[in-house]
Amino acid sequence: MKRELLIFAALVLSLAPPSPAQKARWTIGMSQCNLGEPWRVQMNADIKKAAEGHPEITVVYKDAQNDNLRQVAHIEEFVRAGVNLILISPKEAAPLTRAVADAYDKGIPVIVLDRKVLGDRYTCFIGADNKKIGRAAGSWIAKFLGGKGNVVELKGLMTSIPGQDRNSGFREGIRTTRIQVLFEADMKWLEPNARKEMESALARFPKIDLVYGHNDPAAHGAYLAAKAAGRAGEMAFVGIDGLPQEGQMYVRQGILSACFEYPTGGREAIETALAILGGKTVPREITLPSRVYTKDNIDRGGEWLPE
Ligand code: FRU
Repeated sequence: MKRELLIFAALVLSLAPPSPAQKARWTIGMSQCNLGEPWRVQMNADIKKAAEGHPEITVVYKDAQNDNLRQVAHIEEFVRAGVNLILISPKEAAPLTRAVADAYDKGIPVIVLDRKVLGDRYTCFIGADNKKIGRAAGSWIAKFLGGKGNVVELKGLMTSIPGQDRNSGFREGIRTTRIQVLFEADMKWLEPNARKEMESALARFPKIDLVYGHNDPAAHGAYLAAKAAGRAGEMAFVGIDGLPQEGQMYVRQGILSACFEYPTGGREAIETALAILGGKTVPREITLPSRVYTKDNIDRGGEWLPE
């Protein structure tokens, strides 16, 4: 009987919530480059959700409001506050490289999310392969247009690595075709900029077959411009991100012909942070898979891009 009681007590203790001492053993600083875009709000929500089940960590969030200097200051604040680990989704590569390297050199593990910094002074990078997504978008568009046609490319911030890779990958994807990029512009990831650039493209070119936007807000901004000009029906629109409430919804509504998923990596960021804090070695780079959504496959959950 006594033995059973002991076993029962041990079981109750193991199921009990963690003691306050166990709570928030580690503080993680999360520096987000901006929260003005739905995709970034989703990334923070994914991090929050993944962290919820782990009372041993507290995540402190900072929003740099699309300002490199402010983001550098946030990283420095985290270092001064002595956080145990830093997560950062940087605005631009070059301006954030030094602050990340300094934190890393001081012994604070740094996980870089989605947009890379330069060099190798960080612990781990987590993100999807933008070059591969760009290439897949190129091949998909080439097939969709039957190997020829006039395309407008609305590029993401070209001082960020995803913008560069989504551009170079796409150009590789259409290299052997007769697709012409009539017009290209840097919309800096923002829908109002994309809309304005598209207005210029529409004014200059009477025949546009497709718009390739480096993100879904760009493709949607272009669609709105074409619709306002009464020309949306003449062309197709393709984007990247694939949030359920954004890109996937546009595909369902028939606004986008395709959109490519760009996973936020929020869950993987917390899993990796916990592994590092627990003393495990993690890979230098974690590449997340991506899929394409079209009206034909969206009800099946899209189609994964080949490895
Ligand atoms: C949000 C965003 C996404 C894009 C990602 C690239 O800020 O522009 O739309 O996929 O950043 O880093």
